[in-house]
Amino acid sequence: MPKLTFIERNGAPREVDAPLGLSVLEVAHKHNVDIEGACEGSLACSTCHVIVDPAWFAKLAKPTEDEEDMLDLAFGLEKTSRLGCQIVMSAALDGLVVRLPSAVRNASK
Ligand code: FES
Repeated sequence: MPKLTFIERNGAPREVDAPLGLSVLEVAHKHNVDIEGACEGSLACSTCHVIVDPAWFAKLAKPTEDEEDMLDLAFGLEKTSRLGCQIVMSAALDGLVVRLPSAVRNASK
């Protein structure tokens, strides 16, 4: 089973099992990691914002234009920011590391 490491807001790493085909958001919810995902993956919020470890960023599929538009609304955007609901676990992403942003803004409100 692939692994995914979340760096929590306090800086602590947390490695969890990340089944193939689940999004980073779904994996977070499965393990009670604090990512909201207010729109449940329909690209209508930015509360699933995560910052991808730079070593992994290039390995991800490119974001769609819709994702980029939504990301622009995310609080604390960084160069390797992505929406967690749009990153789907694959064997190639075994070991992925993502950090939770210090704060989120719900663009759907
Ligand atoms: S959960 Fe709303 S955009 Fe990802």
